[in-house]
Amino acid sequence: MSVLVSPSVLSCDFANIQRDVEMINASNADWFHIDVMDGVFVPNISFGFPVISAISKHATKPLDVHLMIANPDQYILDFKKAGADILTVHYEACTHLHRTIQAIKDAGMKAGVALNPHTPVDVLQDVIADLDLVLIMSVNPGFGGQKFIKNAIFKVGQVKNLIHRRGSRALVEVDGGVNLETGLELIKAGADALVAGSFVFNSENPTQTIADLKALS
Ligand code: DX5
Ligand code: ZN
Repeated sequence: MSVLVSPSVLSCDFANIQRDVEMINASNADWFHIDVMDGVFVPNISFGFPVISAISKHATKPLDVHLMIANPDQYILDFKKAGADILTVHYEACTHLHRTIQAIKDAGMKAGVALNPHTPVDVLQDVIADLDLVLIMSVNPGFGGQKFIKNAIFKVGQVKNLIHRRGSRALVEVDGGVNLETGLELIKAGADALVAGSFVFNSENPTQTIADLKALS
């Protein structure tokens, strides 16, 4: 399977969201990566339901929604209504992670769990069989355009191992500082999906940059 590419709309031009959504529709991208930040779990605030619904109206590919929020449980159905297809919560934000994962699946979405750079992969061993996606953070969440943390490459290998050992079908996605160089290393380590924000939207030709990432595998 070729690597899935999920451009992060956090780096798009918010005054021209429809234009950028249509660019992604017409590109080789597989998903839309949507970063939701609440100013509590992470030191930044991005956007909420009205913006996600607006994106969903125009997007022709699945919405891969990454929640960087405290207490995600209370909003699961709202994210479904806004158009989320994959809903990823942070391990560090969920006291009753098993319940949260089941609630996401019961709402008809694919369930993902994200791990901050300091969180070991092992904490997922008792839920990995229930997951559709593991999101390895290769930056500390909160901002686009940060430097890639190399240990993420090692963690991709570890989580792949865990997935095989437990007979899970989860995909492994990596988020933060992805470019052609880090992307290639991540694919070699077993990554199934790459998120890329600033690398795509700050490039001269975002459509071509998406195609270049897609061509890495
Ligand atoms: C960071 C977000 C990322 C961000 C990635 O907290 O979760 O999805 O948009 O941006 P880049 O690709 O610029 O590191
Ligand atoms: Zn993200």
